Amino acid sequence: AIESVYAREILDSRGNPTVEVILETEDGAEGRGLVPSGASTGEAEAWERRDGDKKRYQGKGVLDAVKAVNETIAPNVIGMDASDQRALDETMIALDGTPNKGKLGANAILGVSLAAMYAAAESAELPLYRYLGGTNGHILPVPNMNIMNGGAHADFATDIQEYMISPYGFDSYREALRAGVEVYHTLKGILKKDGHETGLGDEGGFAPKMKSNEDSLKYIMDAISAAGYEPGKQIGLCLDVASSEFYSKDKDKYHFDGEDRDADYMLDYYQGLVEKYPLVSIEDPFAEEDWAAWQKITAAMGDRLQFVGDDLLVTNPKRLQKGIDLKAANSLLVKLNQIGTVTETLDAIELATANGFTSMVSHRSGETSDTTIADLAVAKNTRQIKTGAPARGERIAKYNRLLEIEEELGSTAEYAGYSAFKACKQ
Ligand code: PGA
Ligand code: ZN
Repeated sequence: AIESVYAREILDSRGNPTVEVILETEDGAEGRGLVPSGASTGEAEAWERRDGDKKRYQGKGVLDAVKAVNETIAPNVIGMDASDQRALDETMIALDGTPNKGKLGANAILGVSLAAMYAAAESAELPLYRYLGGTNGHILPVPNMNIMNGGAHADFATDIQEYMISPYGFDSYREALRAGVEVYHTLKGILKKDGHETGLGDEGGFAPKMKSNEDSLKYIMDAISAAGYEPGKQIGLCLDVASSEFYSKDKDKYHFDGEDRDADYMLDYYQGLVEKYPLVSIEDPFAEEDWAAWQKITAAMGDRLQFVGDDLLVTNPKRLQKGIDLKAANSLLVKLNQIGTVTETLDAIELATANGFTSMVSHRSGETSDTTIADLAVAKNTRQIKTGAPARGERIAKYNRLLEIEEELGSTAEYAGYSAFKACKQ
């Protein structure tokens, strides 16, 4: 049973405050929950509670969320069984009583939810992936590595927020990771030679100002070939357009490549890119409330390509059900803090799978050393993960955790490879 729950304010990878929870059980197990934080957040995400006291951390302190854990949640969950995750999460949801965790804060609730999960895994003497996934969690995900950053993560160096490489044409995660890393280093050399800055964005990718959004794709294609790999055959490309960030509701226009464009222009643009580049996945091609445009692109190319709903679906089973019903998107981005409990996150993955949606487990742009998402991807055999470039400790921690899991699984480990995406060319 849960014996103690304690929260404190710590920092995330951007130097902003976030919540850490330490939970202890009577049998001596201890679990920690470190909560991540987004920058290009969806409107429909669960509420991230910030103090708003301008004298501390420019208003970004989380002392109220910490207090919610220590004074409100703790007394209500002490004595509960840490492994009864669903009952624990439902207790916190009821305690909050709002549809978006708007009273206690999703950062408070998720901290406890994660800490309980880790404590229960320790009590069971199981690594997290096995505790969560049982004996069937054995597929190592394709690492979608965000090697060029733009949008809200890099002062809009490009409108598109993330340019990712997906090394799927390999026999193991270890070899796929190596290929991705080699492309990353090769890309740095090519950018430098062309006189570009090679400073990093929030997720560790290079963030030079580009003349057009397509230029970044050209550089990445060159880097893949120069590193000795075959674009399309071994390494594909994914985008996270994060288009809600440059969509104007008043004008109903996307401000893209320097001009206001309508949804039809954007659809043509994406179709053009798909013809030219080995794209296997596009995330948030349209804004979070532009359901009609989402339906159009899914109908036009959804049989071949993955369209991932991040701001659109916000890991929320209700929003996901709407996407399923409307045939808007065909893939779910999975972020624990968008919904705020482990249980609801698992429900979202379950619902996605049952309806033929793929799931891509994801970090946030503001991260910690926590590696939950690596274990979650293996536990649920999601076949895909995105956790930034192979740079910055908080990103590397997840990639390294996957190396550890692959080694632990030994001969039972399977690399998702081509099976991750329907657009993969074998
Ligand atoms: P965020 O970015 O964590 O800033 O929301 C990640 C994403 O958009 O997928
Ligand atoms: Zn996104």
